[in-house]
Amino acid sequence: MAGLLDQIEPLKLSALAEFQDAADLSALDHAKGAYLGAAGRFTGLMKQLGSLPKEEKPAAGKLINAAKVELEAALATRREELELKTALPKEPTDWTLPGRRRTVGRLHPLTQVTDDIVKAFRKLGFAVADGPEIEDEYHCFDALNTPADHPARDAQDTFYVANPSPALSGTLSPSDGERAGVRGDFKPQLLRTHTSSVQIRVMQSQPPPIRIIVPGRVYRRDNADATHNPTFHQIEGLYVDKGVTVGDLKGTVEAVFKDVLGSDVKLRFRPHYFSYTEPSLEIDFTNALVKKLGKDWLEIAGCGMVHPQVFENVGYDPEVWTGWAFGFGIERIAMLRYGITDIRLFYENDVKFLRQF
Ligand code: DAH
Repeated sequence: MAGLLDQIEPLKLSALAEFQDAADLSALDHAKGAYLGAAGRFTGLMKQLGSLPKEEKPAAGKLINAAKVELEAALATRREELELKTALPKEPTDWTLPGRRRTVGRLHPLTQVTDDIVKAFRKLGFAVADGPEIEDEYHCFDALNTPADHPARDAQDTFYVANPSPALSGTLSPSDGERAGVRGDFKPQLLRTHTSSVQIRVMQSQPPPIRIIVPGRVYRRDNADATHNPTFHQIEGLYVDKGVTVGDLKGTVEAVFKDVLGSDVKLRFRPHYFSYTEPSLEIDFTNALVKKLGKDWLEIAGCGMVHPQVFENVGYDPEVWTGWAFGFGIERIAMLRYGITDIRLFYENDVKFLRQF
């Protein structure tokens, strides 16, 4: 088998030439099979090694291995070239074409308005506080001085939780269960009807002075229409210190509304009733947009001076501490800011609507 050694070099060269000539990946695979496959020509040469005389084997083996390494390297290089070629566009690139714009997401209009209100209050030194959306009656009503027979506590108006969790709860008193229509061993739990419950939680957890706002989701058993939705958002504010006045309340609220909705904003404070404030006021709002809607004033918030009984309930001395609180609906403000006339648009997640903000 003297010819074996002489066959290596020509076979290698012809393999290299075919690899180089392969016009695409499948032609390359084909050429690879023809030389290095199980029945390939180069493989055939290697098989013949065994039949060489013993003294020729090492030299031939070395030569064949070197050739094989070279072939495999050539294959890998050509494969890379061809892969790159298939990845490139078939047509020449026209660099003058306009680019494809990537759409960037944005914050929901309610989030934007909330952020702006929060920023306006932070400038005045308010911190953001938070509380649970599943509440107990104590924090949502009792501690806020809202009597047990108040209509807001009716199961018609409030979502009570069918299976209260022990985590939030003490034991059920018979009257609680009867009124709420809730059965179980635990105190009724409900989806908070307002963010005012967080006033109580914050005051219970820290001593005065306090300066907080609480943006958050609230729930009421309303049917959805253009101005109502069973889920909506509020911002609560609470300021407790010595010598706090209604003047502080008016000044603060006015500064924030001007900051968020423009300097042409006018506010009007009307006497009202809330069980947790005394005196209580309702805030009416007007600006050019309200006028355009054909109205003189829009009711926008409730507020007042914190009721002494509320301070008693959280262990603050009402002879020492004074404070004010307010709560307003975020949707209302977003509707005013953007001229939106149907609240349900906020919750439909229609990108055509959302992209406008
Ligand atoms: N919680 C009231 C509501 O949901 C709003 C409100 C009124 C909050 C007066 C207050 C307040 O803190 O002092 O309609």
